Amino acid sequence: MERTKERWGTRIGLVLAMAGNAVGLGNFLRFPAQAVQNGGGAFIIPYLVSFVLMGLPLLWIEWAIGRHGGKYGHHSAPGMMDKLGHSRWLKYAGVFGIFTNLTIAAYYTYLESWTLGYVWYSLTGVFHNMSAHEVRDFFFWYVGAEGNPIINVSPHALFFFILTFTLNVWILSRGLSKGIETASKIGMPLLFIFGVFLAVRALTLNAGELNAINDALVGLNFLWNPKFESLADPKVWLAAAGQIFFTLSVGMGSIHCYAAYLRENEDIALNATTAGFTNEFVEVVLGGSIIIPIGVAYLGLDEVQRIVGLSMGFQTMPTLFQNWGPILAAVAGMAWFGLLFFAGITSSLAMGQPVVAFFHDEFHLDRKHAVRVYGVLLFILALPTILFFSHGAFGEYDDWSGTFSLVLFALIESIAFSWIFGIDRGWEEIQRGAELKIPIFFKFVMKYVTPLFLLGVFSGSLIAPKEGDWIAAFSQLFSGKGWPLDPNSILGKIFRVGVTDTRYFIDGEPTSIFIVDMTRLLLLVTFIGIACAVAYAWRHRKVQAEKGRTP
Ligand code: ALA
Repeated sequence: MERTKERWGTRIGLVLAMAGNAVGLGNFLRFPAQAVQNGGGAFIIPYLVSFVLMGLPLLWIEWAIGRHGGKYGHHSAPGMMDKLGHSRWLKYAGVFGIFTNLTIAAYYTYLESWTLGYVWYSLTGVFHNMSAHEVRDFFFWYVGAEGNPIINVSPHALFFFILTFTLNVWILSRGLSKGIETASKIGMPLLFIFGVFLAVRALTLNAGELNAINDALVGLNFLWNPKFESLADPKVWLAAAGQIFFTLSVGMGSIHCYAAYLRENEDIALNATTAGFTNEFVEVVLGGSIIIPIGVAYLGLDEVQRIVGLSMGFQTMPTLFQNWGPILAAVAGMAWFGLLFFAGITSSLAMGQPVVAFFHDEFHLDRKHAVRVYGVLLFILALPTILFFSHGAFGEYDDWSGTFSLVLFALIESIAFSWIFGIDRGWEEIQRGAELKIPIFFKFVMKYVTPLFLLGVFSGSLIAPKEGDWIAAFSQLFSGKGWPLDPNSILGKIFRVGVTDTRYFIDGEPTSIFIVDMTRLLLLVTFIGIACAVAYAWRHRKVQAEKGRTP
């Protein structure tokens, strides 16, 4: 049955690749932003609970689905999901596992390319002598957020994107062991060294030293003082669960793919747990010890709370590093953006591999051609996020692919695994060859708690109320005034809550609403296109099988 003999070269290579898949820009940019925006210590408890009740079980489930599918020669989600039961719809649920990887890779590769650009700018001293304002303007110029032309991007951003894109495609074309594994073995240790260097520098920063106004520990305290009242706030729970999804790369289909290259009895329990905890260590310890402590040391907590977001790493950090003198600023900039680059590329490779494997397994393309098809699709899908960045295309990808699809796919796969494949078979699959005995309590968690938890997260993001204020929303509902949907909830987006002007063109120029709707259409067409490809591949296989049976 097996069509491909590709395997991981070494165990350390596998764990580094899996950890590299998880450790990404999310650990260093998204985690601090989410933590600060959700009250620091208030965020940490829901975050850790989500890790144990949802993240870890999903890791084991995905590794198990992957290794099981790999046995039948499937290294991408449609084929693996198909092998979980007899129902025909299961393979279509697997469409998410291609769609999500492809569309997240599209905007993620672009984000990753900024980090490469910023390594270059840091090393060449571009930020030296720039004011904070100029550093921010430089970023706006780079991504094309200046002015209002509909297509707006700097040639630099295009150049670094093409470089990053080419590097991704080239590494994928070298194959699993020579390409992805080698990249992880180089990237992960370097990321770690850069991270430790920056964290040590950050945490030993005292008020009065190198222009700092606060001790760096003020920022750390904010993050690590647990606030138990947050447990009653659904908004914080949704944010924490969303971060667990993004950071562990669960609900994407990339973990399944990597696990499919394991041998039938190779351990998954210990490997999955190691990769998951490595990610958490990097996120909580390193990710939590750089941007927030340095930001708070120089700008104060209030200002950090005001400006924190995904782009703070680019808009603000280069300015703060200048306080350390030109040489150390260049080294710190190189370490910070280099760390982000390695974190990014080991994740984007993991998003590419399932798509390559899909074309290889289901359409019998050799690796070179499968990578080419992936490259073309990736390039086409990345273009809107680059060209229309400031008009919301990038954000739409992040919302629909990087947030919504992950949860939906995870919900479906957790039900398919525990209830269709069956928790007893599932548990046996996870335990086979295991070098770690997972407490039996998790069997119950996987069957009941994780799917319910996911259902809660899914429903919560569907109907999230205005400004995340659930108490006010319920009292409004009970007083008969209806449910106040937040514009950023899924339904709020679909029904365009809060949008007053829905014109597509003003004075002949397309508007942001036009770009947003066209981006959604593109994502929908991509999803349908993949579903058609799955239908075609399975139909073709059936015809071939029937031909084989005809004498
Ligand atoms: N898990 C990857 C990240 O955190 C996608 O960036």
